[in-house]
Amino acid sequence: MTEKLQIVERTLEQLGATTPERVAELFTEVRAVFDRSMGAATDEASWKQWRDGWLGRTAGALSLITSQWLKSAGPALKPSVGRGLNELRGHIERAIEERRSAIEAQAAERAAAAERIDLTLPGIERVIGTRHLVQQTLEEIQDIFLRLGYAIAEGPEIETAYYNFEALNIPEFHPAREMWDTFYVGGPTATPGKLVLRTHTSPMQIRIMERQPPPVRVIVPGKVYRRDNPDASHLFMFHQIEGLAVDRDLTFADFKGTIEFFVREFLGPKARTRLRPSYFPFTEPSAEVDATCVVCAGRGCRTCKQTGWFEIMGAGMVDPSVYGFVHYDAKKVSGFAFGMGVDRLAILKHGIDDIQVLVQNDARFLRQFP
Ligand code: FA5
Repeated sequence: MTEKLQIVERTLEQLGATTPERVAELFTEVRAVFDRSMGAATDEASWKQWRDGWLGRTAGALSLITSQWLKSAGPALKPSVGRGLNELRGHIERAIEERRSAIEAQAAERAAAAERIDLTLPGIERVIGTRHLVQQTLEEIQDIFLRLGYAIAEGPEIETAYYNFEALNIPEFHPAREMWDTFYVGGPTATPGKLVLRTHTSPMQIRIMERQPPPVRVIVPGKVYRRDNPDASHLFMFHQIEGLAVDRDLTFADFKGTIEFFVREFLGPKARTRLRPSYFPFTEPSAEVDATCVVCAGRGCRTCKQTGWFEIMGAGMVDPSVYGFVHYDAKKVSGFAFGMGVDRLAILKHGIDDIQVLVQNDARFLRQFP
């Protein structure tokens, strides 16, 4: 309580107020002190303290005036003390309420200013990724075969040795298994025998033929795993697209026509195809398919090891013994199958001389293929 306000703690006698005029003067004095005290309320806490100083039930200035002045007023002064008290209370309550609104408004304004978004500031640039070159290539190849009426299927990357080898006419202990032999994984669900990370997508030939009767026209994209040492053209995890067509009267000419169509669609109308005799246990006859090297247009360069050709897939007519594993009648159906390396096709098409860049996750490389 300020020095001046000590008058509220005294009785009218102690203050020597004997006339209504003097009482009115005292009220004016108190009101002036109140008006000056207003500046002390700058935030919610100081406002509460200020309010309680004036309106507090026991020690507030108004309570003191009521107990000291009103009680000590004789009948002649009572009316003027009562009137003065009412006016003062009205004034104080209004002012305190106004002050509260003002403080609240200021706080809201400060909060809004802190939150305000400056639309002129530069934004945070989000780096938008691109589909990986291998994925783009995969989709491009799929589109070509979809146009030829092929369906798309997918299969397990963890495969049984039966599907990866045996049913593809690659018996255990037969030297042909050498070409894809790999690490075996044991496991309670391995029936029959052992589990492998599949070394090619060819096991899906068997799974598809087991599932449906002929005719079949399907491609199978997916990851495969090998014990190959990494170099400019080898990854130990890469992608293949398997193709299988089985019907009545499918011939080597159908196979050749399909592959040539694919190569022209994929590499351009000038690209040429070459078939080299080869061996796969599940095709007979078998061929390696080469396409013109895109980097040197067939003249010979580092990428194609100076040959002008680039190997893109293994293929052949489905070996009749494979039909035996899936209960197809080898006398009634014939077909062809192929397995192409998607990563190799990607580097061939874009003239990339090292396959390893596909798995190094270097954004500077990947961004070149938006
Ligand atoms: C096979 O995997 C056979 N399953 C293909 C096949 C399917 C033959 C159907 C007959 C009928 P090969 O091991 O050659 O064949 O692999 C096929 C293609 O995968 C190769 O032409 C090559 O493009 C790619 N490839 C092979 N090894 C790697 C490797 N380590 N890294 C990247 N690509 C590879």
